[in-house]
Amino acid sequence: MTQASAQKQRDILVTSALPYANGPIHLGHLLEYIQTDIWARYQRMRGQNCYYVCADDAHGTAIMLRAEREGITSEALIDRIRQEHQDDFAGFHIRFDNYHSTHSEENREFSAYIYRRLQENDHIATRKITQAYDPEKEMFLADRFIKGTCPKCKSEDQYGDNCEVCGATYTPAELINPKSAVSGATPVEKESEHYFFRLPEFTDFLQNWTRSGTLQPQIANKLAEWLDAGLQEWDISRDAPYFGFEIPDAPGKYFYVWLDAPIGYLASFKNLCDREGIDFDHFWNANSEAEVYHFIGKDIINFHALFWPSMLHSAGYRTPSAVWAHGFVTVNGKKMSKSRGTFIMARTYLDHLNPEYLRYYFAAKLASGVDDMDLNLEDFASRVNSDLVGKVVNIASRSAGFITKRFDGQLGAVTETDKLKVFVDAGDEIAECYEAREFGRGMRRIMELADIANQYVNDEQPWVIAKQDGKDAQLQAICTNAINMFRLLMTYLAPVLPKTAEASAEFLDSPLDWNNRGELLENHGIHKFKPLMNRVEMAQIEKMLEASKEQVPEQTAKPAAAANLEPVADEVEFGDFAKVDLRVAKIVKAEHVDGADKLLRLTLDIGHGERNVFAGIKSAYQPEQLEGRLTVMVANLKPRKMKFGLSEGMVLAAGPGGKEIFILSPDSGATPGMRIM
Ligand code: MSP
Ligand code: ZN
Repeated sequence: MTQASAQKQRDILVTSALPYANGPIHLGHLLEYIQTDIWARYQRMRGQNCYYVCADDAHGTAIMLRAEREGITSEALIDRIRQEHQDDFAGFHIRFDNYHSTHSEENREFSAYIYRRLQENDHIATRKITQAYDPEKEMFLADRFIKGTCPKCKSEDQYGDNCEVCGATYTPAELINPKSAVSGATPVEKESEHYFFRLPEFTDFLQNWTRSGTLQPQIANKLAEWLDAGLQEWDISRDAPYFGFEIPDAPGKYFYVWLDAPIGYLASFKNLCDREGIDFDHFWNANSEAEVYHFIGKDIINFHALFWPSMLHSAGYRTPSAVWAHGFVTVNGKKMSKSRGTFIMARTYLDHLNPEYLRYYFAAKLASGVDDMDLNLEDFASRVNSDLVGKVVNIASRSAGFITKRFDGQLGAVTETDKLKVFVDAGDEIAECYEAREFGRGMRRIMELADIANQYVNDEQPWVIAKQDGKDAQLQAICTNAINMFRLLMTYLAPVLPKTAEASAEFLDSPLDWNNRGELLENHGIHKFKPLMNRVEMAQIEKMLEASKEQVPEQTAKPAAAANLEPVADEVEFGDFAKVDLRVAKIVKAEHVDGADKLLRLTLDIGHGERNVFAGIKSAYQPEQLEGRLTVMVANLKPRKMKFGLSEGMVLAAGPGGKEIFILSPDSGATPGMRIM
């Protein structure tokens, strides 16, 4: 039996959205990268010529301001974050063919080239617009960098476009007492010239394109509404200071980050082509027969299904074969939340759990639509334990021992040809599920087969046969049948569980080859079985949630002065609050910590001896400014082992971060050790 098809090899390029270079990867992001990686691994396994490229999205105001707060250049920030992102992705076995940056030479060239083509085609307009401007910082302010009092409900400290208290939407000009979130200055109105992409010119093109099978039906319907409502010209320029590419022949004007972000797909692929001698034009020519797919989240559809295809079309490139959107990840039924500990960073997860658990859980729940995906942590543990550990891995562990001990590692002949044919044939159906991004359906089919395999072993009872005389051939046959079933299951699971698949292939001393899966393993030597996967314990999950509470990612930090808009955390019982022992402490020593960008080591005197505490206040204080000052510390916080040593408490500080962190410093009357009520 050979399924290797005589069909022509497909040339496929897939992408995931480019993560912003201003913060860490979290489990929400990972849904997308795992989904794309599974699809790409599946295609490669079937022998298609499939490339998966991505990059960091490195431009924009947020990145520029964060670098400023950290006192480093934007370039240094994006280099560091890119490395962190790549490490996180590698930890989850995401296998990119290339991981680039939008702040690259290729991207600069493509952006300039595409812009020129749009200009030549009369698709660029310029006109003056009036915007809020920070006179102190000398920069224009996007709505989210302005805050003030809500014109409706009069709540203070609301963002420039909507009120988090009453839900009103408005323009920054309507805010009462507006302030720049960057400097605190009162914004003024200022005029400047902007460049616009003339999107309405593409209405007919988009009517066709969005209806031609390139989008999921729900998305196509949504876009039809937008198209009927009429398209607007798209503002593609930003004034200096801005971290990005200057627009050709327009000094002081920069491409808006979303103009050059999707062009980053081309740039990353070009970088790969140059390195490996791949024909770029074959994939991107207007009449290309290669396939190009973008995996994205549903929040960024307008950029990928309106602006991007129009830009490509005007510039003379092919448009994507399809744009596939997915929904958003929630944890335990709710939006990911820092106070609940459910804002889980990729790194925190990896510190506690096996990445393949999450890959499987996402796969088991993914379909081709845009529904949100709930990561229910109990369901997560029970599904991984019952499906992967209880069903799949179990088949091998129940049969391999006999082969090793009784038959010197040698499989015999397959006797259950009909049963195994069912397993082999199911591969076509499972293949269709992968192809159609119906991973959940595929996983269910695989688990049905696993049930059949386990039932087979239960019925045949090899452990009973093993004790009977003269039944060696039967015992060897049962185990050979079961191990072949296991091998087919692992072949089908390989795109989802690449590491376990690798370990299985080693154990079987034979590659997991989907296209030739009909060639069963007979009279073949296998290695000693080693446990392939452990159970998930709820305790590991609890620890991960605890660790997540301790981390506050910068990415979600609002622009500096607006950080006090963070919603108040969940309520605590008075009894819990009363357990916190707050003491006045004197900072006797403050020192830099080797290798830590944010921490200072403080030696604190609380009247009952000294404490060693690491405090993340380096951005705001030089050590010498601190020595001798008083502060307030949590004196009964359980000591915590950190990378740099033991931290025995916590110092209280207030402020939005960066240079504005204020250590409380009671002036007089306070003595170290005094309890704060
Ligand atoms: N930089 C842009 C994309 C530019 S593509 C030319 C961006 N970056 S992002 O870091 O905010 O998001 C990257 C991807 O992760 C997006 O597709 C986004 O939808 C997805 N997700 C971010 N949070 C998510 C969840 N909580 N759940 C699922 N996907 C999420 O957007
Ligand atoms: Zn309001």
